[in-house]
Amino acid sequence: MTLSTPFLSYKGFNQSEDIDYSQRKNLSEENFWKLIRKDYLLKKDYVNLENGYYCFIPQPTLNKYLEHVKRINFEGSYYMRNQLDLDKRKTAERLSNLVNCDKYELAITRNTTESLDLIISGFPWEKNDEAIFAMQDYGSMQEMFKLTAKRRGIINKIISVPNHPKNDEEIVSLYEQQITKKTKLIMVSHMINITGQILPVKKICEMAHSYNIDVLVDGAHCVGHIDVDIKDLNCDYYGSSLHKWLSAPLGTGLLFVKKEKISKIEPILAGHVHQRDNIMRLNHIGTHPVHSDLAINDALDYLNSIGLKRKENRLRYLQRYWSDKLRSKRNIIINTPLENFRSCGIANIGVKNKTPDELSKILFKEYGIFTVAIDYANVKGCRITPNIYTNEKELDYFVESIIKITSN
Ligand SMILES: Cc1ncc(COP(=O)(O)O)c(C=O)c1O
Repeated sequence: MTLSTPFLSYKGFNQSEDIDYSQRKNLSEENFWKLIRKDYLLKKDYVNLENGYYCFIPQPTLNKYLEHVKRINFEGSYYMRNQLDLDKRKTAERLSNLVNCDKYELAITRNTTESLDLIISGFPWEKNDEAIFAMQDYGSMQEMFKLTAKRRGIINKIISVPNHPKNDEEIVSLYEQQITKKTKLIMVSHMINITGQILPVKKICEMAHSYNIDVLVDGAHCVGHIDVDIKDLNCDYYGSSLHKWLSAPLGTGLLFVKKEKISKIEPILAGHVHQRDNIMRLNHIGTHPVHSDLAINDALDYLNSIGLKRKENRLRYLQRYWSDKLRSKRNIIINTPLENFRSCGIANIGVKNKTPDELSKILFKEYGIFTVAIDYANVKGCRITPNIYTNEKELDYFVESIIKITSN
């Protein structure tokens, strides 16, 4: 008797062809960005100027992502046992090319929080060691330092970065002034999330290393937004969220650890890799949504179809398009530095006599513009984050709305 083998009649899962983006290259600048806008499914309810939390996925990447979900569901454990590690290493290698580091120095994580908390909690702290960071850094990273102070007895020194620094040296010296013989780690935001200010990370690293102090960089907003060159920055640790400006699916991030620092850090979760200098020792997270990791490749393809430099230029252009029109107006305060190299797509605007909360509510309820209010760490205003689908018409409308609000 022959056994029936149902799987032999299975057609299997057919993945679609790679998307050919090459025709786009020849389009004029205007038509190029019009086409990009068409790649996004946009809600008509409001103008979305709050892409900083999550840069949702353009349709070509989303379709690929859904295919990965189906494929992984089709292949099940077979994929997990045979292909997962290989695919993840390949993706990590592509990411390492994007941020310019060695492929063995980069691991895929779920987000910046995981990447940075791993370093903060896994650092070889001794009682009374000191850490320096800024009150403008992301709240939950500051909380992690506070938790580490409770658990391990470290001392946190918190500086304040001015919204309009005179020069790089002013910022570097703010960190330097807090250094003592006990200082072991400085955390720096590459781009401050509430104002969009880009900090002189390379200079801070040079200064810190001259005291033998490690630097952890919060690059949550940088990968896929600006040209991140980790070798050039010469930091020791770098974390980013890929669901932000790379427009990869939610729950994707990266961690860079300089080769010679890997053995210094202890993992949060214990895994099966025990070689001290292998970054995978730090990367055990158990079973997780691997289809999201696969779609990082599609997000990279999409980014390549634009070109990182072109995307960075576009995001800076969009920010300057609205902020230049408002910066010198009465009753308006732009909380983001003017120089091009100190910001890119993100900026923050405050209006005199209105709290940030009032401003964001007026913008949303009366004008249909979605932003986020920021009211702490010497920053009072709404964070404005267009994305590459944003067009000038929307920004003209935002500018007109702000002018109306300030003249009322
Ligand atoms: C500067 C900065 N760091 C870290 C994070 C945390 O990112 P995630 O929630 O993706 O881990 C954010 C999120 O907005 C951020 O803006």
